[in-house]
Amino acid sequence: MTSYSDKISLIAGNANPALAEAISAELGLPLAKAHVGRFPDGEIDIKVEEDLRGTDVFVLQPTNPPVNENWAELLLLLDTLRRASAGRITAVMPYFGYARKDRKDEGRVPISAKVVANTLSCSGADRVVTIDMHAAQIQGFFDIPVDHLYSKPILLDAVKQSGLEQPLVVSPDVGGIKMARAYAKELDADLAIVDKRRVSGSEIVVEHIIGDVKDRNIIIVDDMISTGGSITEAARIVRDQGARQVVIAVSHGVFAGPAFERIANAPVDRLLVTDTIPLDPAAPAKIEVVSVAPLLARAIHNIHSSQSVSSLFDRLPVAPVG
Ligand code: R5P
Repeated sequence: MTSYSDKISLIAGNANPALAEAISAELGLPLAKAHVGRFPDGEIDIKVEEDLRGTDVFVLQPTNPPVNENWAELLLLLDTLRRASAGRITAVMPYFGYARKDRKDEGRVPISAKVVANTLSCSGADRVVTIDMHAAQIQGFFDIPVDHLYSKPILLDAVKQSGLEQPLVVSPDVGGIKMARAYAKELDADLAIVDKRRVSGSEIVVEHIIGDVKDRNIIIVDDMISTGGSITEAARIVRDQGARQVVIAVSHGVFAGPAFERIANAPVDRLLVTDTIPLDPAAPAKIEVVSVAPLLARAIHNIHSSQSVSSLFDRLPVAPVG
């Protein structure tokens, strides 16, 4: 562990306390004392109990569900720190909510990801750290630095424990090809693509798969699970077409609506997800969590000490900090 002699501090809202504690433990740096509670009418009540003037502060707050509560907590924390004269304020958002609304794909809809970016900057963020954003180009919505981290090395380590012979990497939709290709390259594996059509927020239709999955061991990769439709339908079609084992690796487990029921009933051997979002204890047992805390701790360490962040991906799994 590093003992930080200069001014650095971690502070967290209520979005993911376990991940905040794990990052704090990795860095050997306690979380700053702060009250992030509610007034009787539900409005957010914040008081930072330490002097953070001139400090390099990292605000640990993903915007997972309840997304609007966690987003508002993040904005008010940023504002608190700016008004308390923090030196530099970094919003660490391992999961970046509203990222799927990144363009006007029909008339009279918002570009919600742009609104999130605007509000972060307006409230005092000098920098953003995030993991596997739904669309990497959201970085362009910001005029401040964005460090975009990848959970692939961590998830791949866990996938490899399955010892799958001749794996075939499957993208559950066309939008996920880039991520799937990166996994396939790392595993020296072939790639197949599911032809998915979304009919509503929770319903999708899968009719075809591009690629031969018969007698192959499958790794389905995606940036997120929301209602579970995409990955469970992908699992169903590969099994219907003769696949053997099916392992799923996903960065962010939102698990909304029918997700748990769909996963419990899906022909899936293992489902790996990171801890960017806390996992509900009611989750089916086949869901395994791998932690991004070491990755985030190393990124925070490197940002604070003005070292490269992209170099982290040359040498993961990460060594202890210090
Ligand atoms: C879509 O573009 C995303 O990458 C995910 O595939 C999608 O958000 C997952 O949603 P669901 O779990 O509801 O199918």
